[in-house]
Amino acid sequence: MLTFAFPGRRRIQATKPNAAGLKLLNLGCGARRHPAWTNADLAPAGDDVLHVDLRKPLPFPDREFDAVYASHVLEHLTPREATHLLGEVRRVLRPGGIARVVVPDLEGIVREYLAAVDALDGGDDEACWRHRWMTIELLDQLVRTRPGGAMARWWSCNPVPADAFIRTRLGVQATAAIEAIRSQQAASGKPPLRPTEILHAPPTSDRKAVRFSKSGERHKWMYDRISLGELLAASGFCEPRRVTAVESRIADFPAYELDADVEGAVHKPDSLFMEAVAPTAAL
Ligand SMILES: C[S@@+](CC[C@H](N)C(=O)[O-])C[C@H]1O[C@@H](n2cnc3c(N)ncnc32)[C@H](O)[C@@H]1O
Repeated sequence: MLTFAFPGRRRIQATKPNAAGLKLLNLGCGARRHPAWTNADLAPAGDDVLHVDLRKPLPFPDREFDAVYASHVLEHLTPREATHLLGEVRRVLRPGGIARVVVPDLEGIVREYLAAVDALDGGDDEACWRHRWMTIELLDQLVRTRPGGAMARWWSCNPVPADAFIRTRLGVQATAAIEAIRSQQAASGKPPLRPTEILHAPPTSDRKAVRFSKSGERHKWMYDRISLGELLAASGFCEPRRVTAVESRIADFPAYELDADVEGAVHKPDSLFMEAVAPTAAL
């Protein structure tokens, strides 16, 4: 990767095409990355990941990439920062290049929450756990003041209330988190939490809460297919449309296993997957 800087300006990274002749960029990659992509994150998880702060201009030339992918990243930015980022994504995409954006699906969460309310109204007392979980899915990541928030406390119960329902909604991320908590509990001898304790975390000190709010874990907004489509269109993209985890206009996208494994098991089934095209003519 070539790096060059203009005096007083940010460093610009020029990238090399992958074996398929494509330049692909994965923003906010976390641990989910593929070597055929240029992977970038605020907290790089390895030497192969570029450090970028998505609130700042992207350190790449105009029209550099054939596709840009950002999964479960946009909701960690304010709407103003997200608009800035999509403008930058458009700048670094070649005309006709593809932006693929994945976020937690606000519509799916709200529908599932309302289904639990309806079930309770219909006399299904078991639905109380689904109702409590969906309330947490809706609110916890927007308001939590400590890592993991109420979700981690829910997973610290044994048995986990509504276990099968949650694993269906969140896929491998829930399974991995529950297993990690189980091994921590086994190693420390700490007893599991009681379900009545989930929402009663001890208060976080102001200093710790401020430090946590800067960690990037908290969500700052949520999107559905309408608002994300509008945001993509307002950022100058064409043909914003909802796709599935394995459907893409990016060549051979399923082979990179970013949204689903080779068998088609979706990593984050609670997601909204959308793609849009960078305009081919100047707007
Ligand atoms: C929920 S994780 C998603 C990781 C991965 N894309 C996935 O789908 O599993 C959010 C990622 O966004 C990154 N992130 C949050 N704010 C960022 C920022 N301002 N600039 C760059 N990366 C950021 C975090 O470091 C984290 O790796």
